[in-house]
Amino acid sequence: MKNIVVTGATGNIGSRVVLELTARKREGVMAFVRDPVKAARLAASGATIRRGAFEDTASLRAGFAGADTVVLITAGSALAEQAAAAIDVARAAGVRKIVRISSLKADIEGPTDATRQDGRTEAKLRASGLTHVILRGHCFMQNLLASVGSLRSEGKLYFGTGSGKMGLIDTRDIADAAVAAATSDAWDGQTLELTGPAAIDYDAVAAALGRELGRDVTYVPVPPTAVGEAARRFGTDEWTAKVLTDYCTAYAKGWGDFTTQEVAKLTGHEPRSIAEFAREVLAPAVRAG
Ligand SMILES: NC(=O)c1ccc[n+]([C@@H]2O[C@H](COP(=O)([O-])OP(=O)(O)OC[C@H]3O[C@@H](n4cnc5c(N)ncnc54)[C@H](OP(=O)(O)O)[C@@H]3O)[C@@H](O)[C@H]2O)c1
Repeated sequence: MKNIVVTGATGNIGSRVVLELTARKREGVMAFVRDPVKAARLAASGATIRRGAFEDTASLRAGFAGADTVVLITAGSALAEQAAAAIDVARAAGVRKIVRISSLKADIEGPTDATRQDGRTEAKLRASGLTHVILRGHCFMQNLLASVGSLRSEGKLYFGTGSGKMGLIDTRDIADAAVAAATSDAWDGQTLELTGPAAIDYDAVAAALGRELGRDVTYVPVPPTAVGEAARRFGTDEWTAKVLTDYCTAYAKGWGDFTTQEVAKLTGHEPRSIAEFAREVLAPAVRAG
């Protein structure tokens, strides 16, 4: 069996990738993590924990030793630097293939700094000579979990995308797609935009949640800058708050108004709908208060 290392393995996508891989009873599933305490569930599933951080090159070398494939997930304001360090070490360590979790329409001239950084990372990966699959995730349905407080107390969903429609995707489908790309050569060399099954606005999101909760849920559009300001009040760092504002501005203009069939092609199942997400994830979180 080929060894697979997953970075960002304690995060939303990475943890599911690890658990899906170990559920197939695969040998050689490695989770690259900063904090082994957060990785107890991954270790219990059979994954080998390799401790490290992107800033620590020696830990990357040890983390990638003996790996055939790396599922490369990075995060935060230094995401391109993290990815560049990982790609360089992967090449030197003899890694054959990288499955990169990138973002919607990644482009060095895109509308958010995350889009631009992922554009730079994709260019570096394509130039690296490594076999690769690039999976660009649309806006995550799981971002809605940040609104649980107002949903619970007021039945209101405040957001800054106006009436812009988005092909919102459940991170479980991105993880499933990453597992497929890591365990098959069928997608090598491809860049795939992953979306949910429908481009919807936040009125549709509110309606889906309201149906599930059996009460009214209302979407309240606010300016994109108000979303960034609210994030700052909740302690979000400046880079993330600005990226959030810039994404909202772009989505309000229809930048994310599209869907693709890539999740079904990669995974063999349809992407999860907003109704499924509301039933399985969001409504339980709202009720849990
Ligand atoms: N939100 C969206 O709509 C959207 C859309 C497309 C793409 N994306 C991007 O997709 C990526 C994956 O998303 P996600 O939700 O799975 O991320 P997440 O839950 O925030 O997880 C990020 C992971 O990266 C790890 N990490 C952060 N800094 C690190 C460092 N310096 N060294 C080693 N590990 C580090 C974290 O470890 P710790 O647990 O130790 O913090 C965590 O495991 C993110 O970059 C995200 O921004 C987001």
